[in-house]
Amino acid sequence: MMVIPEVTVTGTVRVLLPPSFCALLHCALLHAADAVTFHKDVEPILQNRCQSCHRPGEAGPMPLLTYQQARPWAKAIKSALLTGKMPPWQADPRYGKFSNDLRLAPGEKETLLAWVDGGAPEGSPADAPKPRAFVEGWRIPAPDMVFEMPQPFNVPANGAIDYQYISVPTHFTEDKWVEAVEVRPGNRAAVHHAIVVVDSPGGNEEEYLAGYAPGMTPQSWKPGQARLIKAGSTLVFQMHYQSAGKPMTDRSKIGLIFAKKPATEQIVAMQAAAHWIAIPPNDPDYRISATEIIDQPCELVGLRAHMHLRGKSFMFRAIYPDGRSEILLNIPQFDFHWQPYYYLTAPKPLPRGTRIEASAVYDNSPNNPLNPNPNAAIFWGPQTWDEMMIGWFDVAVPVHPALPAVRNTGF
Ligand code: HEC
Repeated sequence: MMVIPEVTVTGTVRVLLPPSFCALLHCALLHAADAVTFHKDVEPILQNRCQSCHRPGEAGPMPLLTYQQARPWAKAIKSALLTGKMPPWQADPRYGKFSNDLRLAPGEKETLLAWVDGGAPEGSPADAPKPRAFVEGWRIPAPDMVFEMPQPFNVPANGAIDYQYISVPTHFTEDKWVEAVEVRPGNRAAVHHAIVVVDSPGGNEEEYLAGYAPGMTPQSWKPGQARLIKAGSTLVFQMHYQSAGKPMTDRSKIGLIFAKKPATEQIVAMQAAAHWIAIPPNDPDYRISATEIIDQPCELVGLRAHMHLRGKSFMFRAIYPDGRSEILLNIPQFDFHWQPYYYLTAPKPLPRGTRIEASAVYDNSPNNPLNPNPNAAIFWGPQTWDEMMIGWFDVAVPVHPALPAVRNTGF
């Protein structure tokens, strides 16, 4: 920290410093003794960094919208910050810049800790920022159209449940371009994951549209970029349910926001996936990789790693036609409960012939606290006690009105 020689930090001197100057110096800690209050200092941070998940209906177990809601969690907030559990973000900071980065800005963690250590005072409600406006029930802005499962699915209390496939016709009479999409579980306890694929007339295989999995972000792209849903398509919900000891019901849905202007780039879902998984019992460090070759110039816009309970680490690399290689995303400690998309702040051009390589490492030993059975050999399969290895990535391809649209990777 920068120190100004003659200035001893006392109340009198501090009030002379303009607030922006103070922020620059990260004075938060210096204020700790007297001044850090909920409404003035903490509430703005919770609004920007925590409330997207910690509000009713979202993944966070408790809302953090008001002082009354946050105060009882002060100690837990401190420990979650110190262990790095919150905010949840697994990407190695050395590689890639992501627009949905959840990490706190410099000084914010210190402010939160100082508030807790100072007894978590409320301060004056007059200092409170305006409450942040959220669209209730969604993380994307209000959807233009919502498709819901026609009937609730009854999830039994016990046992493995086969994947359910539920078709919902769109009745679209023209092609639709979608610039944001969110799959919402009806019952978070019951839905392990959900994938919505598009079955288009004349298409010979289904195409990935969007999904929900633990910790997953909704999908939205930059202006001008959109996914295509062809006229007459049917949406197919692939539902993976989990039992939880009591009967439950679920009715999941998907919300779509249509592009307001013609899309200039089509967003195409691709994957580097390995289906030939065979992880030996008790192997603490089983490695497998998969490659996908880019066969037309495009731009990389987002990445997402998918593994199950034995997942340990995951890395994406690009190997360019000129031999250069680059790490796109590294997740040194994969967390099964957090499988977000990582959206690149600046899209990355991928020349034709680029190879996208995904490398996954699995821990099938007893050291892995999530491992249901270290003595089992593990193969590819749909249930969480089976394994998967998928490096999902979205690319943007220029739209040429004269050329047919590109297809997403089949599913
Ligand atoms: C992307 C969504 C998300 C964001 C952003 C987020 N949280 Fe959480 N938070 C969760 C989920 C989900 C859990 C439950 C995790 C679990 O039980 O393993 C959780 C758990 C917690 C807990 C732990 C409760 C306990 O059981 O001890 C605290 C405290 C917490 N969050 C505080 C925060 C704070 C403070 C921020 C912002 C700095 C934040 N969270 C940001 C989703 C989020």
